Amino acid sequence: MAENGRDRGMMSSNTPPTIERDWFEHAFGALYPIVYAHRTAEAARPEALFAAAQVRLSAGDDLLDLCCGNGRHLVTLAPLARRAVGLDYSPELLALAGNAVGAEAELVRADMRAIPFRGAFDVVVNFFTSFGYFDTRDENLRVVRGVADALKPGGRFFIDYLSAAHVRDTLVPHSVRHTGDYEIRDTRWIDEERGRINKTTSVMLRGTPVQETGESVRLYGLDEFRGLLAEGGLRVDAVYGDHDGAPFADSRPRLIAVGRKT
Ligand SMILES: C[S@@+](CC[C@H](N)C(=O)[O-])C[C@H]1O[C@@H](n2cnc3c(N)ncnc32)[C@H](O)[C@@H]1O
Repeated sequence: MAENGRDRGMMSSNTPPTIERDWFEHAFGALYPIVYAHRTAEAARPEALFAAAQVRLSAGDDLLDLCCGNGRHLVTLAPLARRAVGLDYSPELLALAGNAVGAEAELVRADMRAIPFRGAFDVVVNFFTSFGYFDTRDENLRVVRGVADALKPGGRFFIDYLSAAHVRDTLVPHSVRHTGDYEIRDTRWIDEERGRINKTTSVMLRGTPVQETGESVRLYGLDEFRGLLAEGGLRVDAVYGDHDGAPFADSRPRLIAVGRKT
C-alpha cells in the first residue's frame, strides 16, 4: 500500500481505518521480506516437512504450493516431489521464489480465486494464513473449489490457517519492531461485525515513512471452516493446532487442516 504512500488509511482519530477489499494486491510487495524477515526458508523447513508427512508426499507426486510467496516452503518440498508448482499473485515474491527454487519448481502468477489447473496435482499445500482474504464467503469458497478442481481424484491437501480463538485471546493492539534501518509499526483490531482480524503495518526507513499496508482475514472457527471446505469439495480428515502435530485447541496458534478431495 504501499509503495504509493500514506493514502491508505492510518488512524487520524480513534476510528479504525478502512482496509480496502483488494488489500492483498498491495500487501505483499518488495518490502514484505523485510516486514516478515523472520519467516525464512529455515523456519519454514519443519513446517514443510510436517506437511509432507501429513499428506504422505512421495517422489511420484505432483505438488502445488498455493500462495507460495518467496518459495520458502517450496525449497524443501520441491525436491521431494516429481513436479512442484508455486502459485502466487505477487510478482515481487515470485521473483524471490525463482531465485530460491531455481529449476526445481515452476512458478505461476495467478489469483487464487482462479487457479488455472484441473486435475493436475496429487497434493496442494497452503501455508501461513494464505486463506480467508476475500470479502465474501463466495470468493473464499471459490478458492476451496479451485483447490478441489486442481487436485486429481483422491488428491490430498494441507491448509495452514490461523486459529480464530487464539487470535482473539492473544491480540496485541499495537507493536513496534526494528529490522536493520527499518521500523515496523503494527496496529491490530478485530472487526466483530464482519468477523475479521485486521492489521495495518507502517514501515519507516530511518524515520521516513516508506510503506503502509493493510491486511484483513476472515476469522473462521473450526466448524465453519470445515463446512466451507466440505461445500467446496474438500473433506477434512485431521486438524492440528501447530506444526509440531499438537491437537487443535483454542489455546493453539494454528488451525491446520489435512484431508482429501471428495
Ligand atoms: C501470508 S503470505 C504467505 C506466503 C507463503 N505461503 C509463506 O508462508 O511465506 C500470503 C501469500 O498469498 C499471496 N496472495 C495474496 N493474495 C493472493 C491472491 N489473490 N492470489 C494468489 N496469491 C495471493 C501473497 O502474495 C503472499 O505470497
